[in-house]
Amino acid sequence: MPKKILITRVIPAIAEELLTQAGFEVTVWRGNQVMTKDELIEQLLPCHALLSLGSNKLDRAFFEACKHLEIVSQFAVGFDNIDVAAASEFKIPVCNTPDVLSEATADVAFGLMIAVSRKMFYNHKLILQGEWKQFEPLKNLGFELTGKTLGIFGLGRIGSIMAQRCTGAYGMKVIYHNRNRNLAAEKETGAHYVDFDTLLRESDVLSVHSALTAQTKNLFNKEAFAKMKNTAVFINTARGGVHNEIDLIEALQNQTIWGAGLDVTNPEPMHANNPLLHMPNVAVLPHIGSATVEARTGMARLAAENIISFYKTGKPHTPVNSGF
Ligand code: DGY
Repeated sequence: MPKKILITRVIPAIAEELLTQAGFEVTVWRGNQVMTKDELIEQLLPCHALLSLGSNKLDRAFFEACKHLEIVSQFAVGFDNIDVAAASEFKIPVCNTPDVLSEATADVAFGLMIAVSRKMFYNHKLILQGEWKQFEPLKNLGFELTGKTLGIFGLGRIGSIMAQRCTGAYGMKVIYHNRNRNLAAEKETGAHYVDFDTLLRESDVLSVHSALTAQTKNLFNKEAFAKMKNTAVFINTARGGVHNEIDLIEALQNQTIWGAGLDVTNPEPMHANNPLLHMPNVAVLPHIGSATVEARTGMARLAAENIISFYKTGKPHTPVNSGF
C-alpha cells in the first residue's frame, strides 16, 4: 500500500511530481481558503504524512488528534505555527525549508531598506493621487545609506546575505545580535557582535531576521524603540510577532524612530486602514519574502524531498526537532 501524503494548498507542481514518482499517493487540497483545523484533521485521517504551510496551525490539540502522522514537512523556513515539542512527544519529525529562500527574502529586506530611506512607496502614492505637480527642492527628502550602520537581529542565513548586500552596495558597517555568537557568519560578513542595547543604540537601519519564539515575541516594543536613534529605520522580514505593532505605530508617529519597512505584520493580513499604510516613511508588503519562482520551487522540492528521504533512509534532510 502506498503511503498517503496530504498537501494543504496548491504549491509548485514539483512537490507532487517528485512524491508521485517516488510512489506516494498524493492529495492536494485545492480550496482557496486555508483549511479549518477540523477539516485538516478529517483530511488527514487516511494519511501518513502532511506537507503543511505556515498558515496551518499545528498545535498540541492537532498532534493529539493526529498521532498517527509519520512526518510533517513544512513548506516554509519558519515553523512558529507548529508546536514542535508536542510533535516530538509523539515522535513525529518536523521539517522546514531553509536556505532555498534566503536570497529572495534578503532581497525584500534590502529593497524595503532602500524604499523607506527614499520614501518610494509614499512618492508613488502621490502620483496616483495626482499630486506630482512640479520639481520640489525641499519636499519628501530621504537619506543616503552609504557608510551607515546596519544592525542585524538574527544573523543566520538570511541576515548574512542582507549584511553582504549592504556592505557590497553601500559600505555599511554591520553589527549584529544573536542569542549565541555566529563566528562563521562573522567571518563571512565582517559583522561585529554587540549586546541587544548596543544594537538598538547604534543601528541606522535595524533589520530583523530571527525566528518568532517565546524569547523574541514582542521584543521590539516601546522600550526597545525608545533606545533607537530617532533617525533609524526598522525593517522586519521575519515574523510580525517579533515587533509590537501598536508600539511601532506610536514610535513612528512620535518620531522616536524615523521609518519602517515591513514584509510581515502583526496581525496578518494587515487591515487596509492601518495607519502604517499612510505614513510617508513606511513601506509595507504582504509577506512576499519567498515569493520568487526560484525560491518557491526550491521550497516545494525540499519539502517533498524531506518526505522521500525520511521514508527511504529514516532521516529527512532538514528536520527541526532533534532525534531525526
Ligand atoms: C517562511 O518560509 O517562513 C516564509 O515566511 C513563508 O511563510
